Amino acid sequence: MEGINFNQIGVSFKGSGSYVPDQILTNSKISQKVDTSNEWIKSRTGISERRISSLGDNVTEMGYKAALTAIEMANWDIKTIDLIVLATSTPNDLFGSAPSIQAKLGAANAVAFDLTAACSGFLFALISASQFLKGGGGFKRAIVIGADQLSSFVDWNDRGSCILFGDGAGALAIEATNEFDNLIGFDMRTDGERGSFLNLPSKNTKGSIIDNIDFLSGAFSPIQMNGQEVYKFAVREVPIILEKLLKKMNYTSDKVDWLVLHQANQRILDSVGERLKIPGEKILSNLEKYGNTSAATIPLVIDEAIRNNRIKQNDIIATSGFGAGLSWGAALIKWG
Ligand code: COA
Repeated sequence: MEGINFNQIGVSFKGSGSYVPDQILTNSKISQKVDTSNEWIKSRTGISERRISSLGDNVTEMGYKAALTAIEMANWDIKTIDLIVLATSTPNDLFGSAPSIQAKLGAANAVAFDLTAACSGFLFALISASQFLKGGGGFKRAIVIGADQLSSFVDWNDRGSCILFGDGAGALAIEATNEFDNLIGFDMRTDGERGSFLNLPSKNTKGSIIDNIDFLSGAFSPIQMNGQEVYKFAVREVPIILEKLLKKMNYTSDKVDWLVLHQANQRILDSVGERLKIPGEKILSNLEKYGNTSAATIPLVIDEAIRNNRIKQNDIIATSGFGAGLSWGAALIKWG
């Protein structure tokens, strides 16, 4: 953490990276397992296929590969990275997977930790890391990673939820500046009252240590989801938080170059775009190929758009993450 500069007023975006496992699970293959069809899944969600981790593709591996490509784009010496924040709900070590990514990268001067906020995780991590960069504590360069392996926690017999999720990782490289702030504005919300709509709850079975002293062995139940309620929550709250943010920052939706929403369902993306009067060609979508990769969707779709020369320097991105908690958030970004 060298070069402490108390004038750091903002952040700039320097690089992006992503990684997905090789294994492809198509809709028609899912229909061999549960009573569904490619037509049903495609028309209700927009998803055609998703990637599934196999051995060697855990959150540390995926997050590491995404981070490395972001660092390469930023052209940073790895030793200059001060902070690594990993958004994940599926760490391969419950004590945290970020330090293992730090070790694999050789980012010896960074502090690394996990942050959990389900599908809002990447946005919450990006906002948190930005506060470190602006906070005067000497943090100058950060890697923000979203990586998840929900396939390990999906109930593969539940056709109402197993069709949605896939695995992957994305990362952004952000740097403190003392001239401008390209994280133009943000907002974050949670509502634990509605938390039961989407859970990955612990499932403890009682054991005995010695006579009269019980313990609860640790394990998790598969994902439980009320799809209709989550859908209603997303199409209601996401436009509200984005509209409020745009208004607060004196932006109108016609100034937005790209709408980057958590990739949950194409119908949610279309509905939010319609409400904000942002045309379809400005709404980034890759869920057809990857489904909902939880904390990874936002950096994954941003990285793809940067590498395809869609997102360009100084483009304005309105982004929103939403999901379990319930949690949701929005950020207005200028790329670069
Ligand atoms: N294949 C075929 N039929 C299915 C099905 C599947 N995979 N999943 C559900 N169905 C059936 C239901 O059993 C129901 O049948 P019924 O009318 O005979 O009872 C019918 O389809 C309608 O179910 P419903 O739950 O109303 O479907 P839906 O249009 O709401 O679509 C989701 C279901 C899950 C695709 C949709 O609710 C959704 O995307 N919700 C948001 C979930 C989400 O994004 N979660 C993550 C947030 S981070």
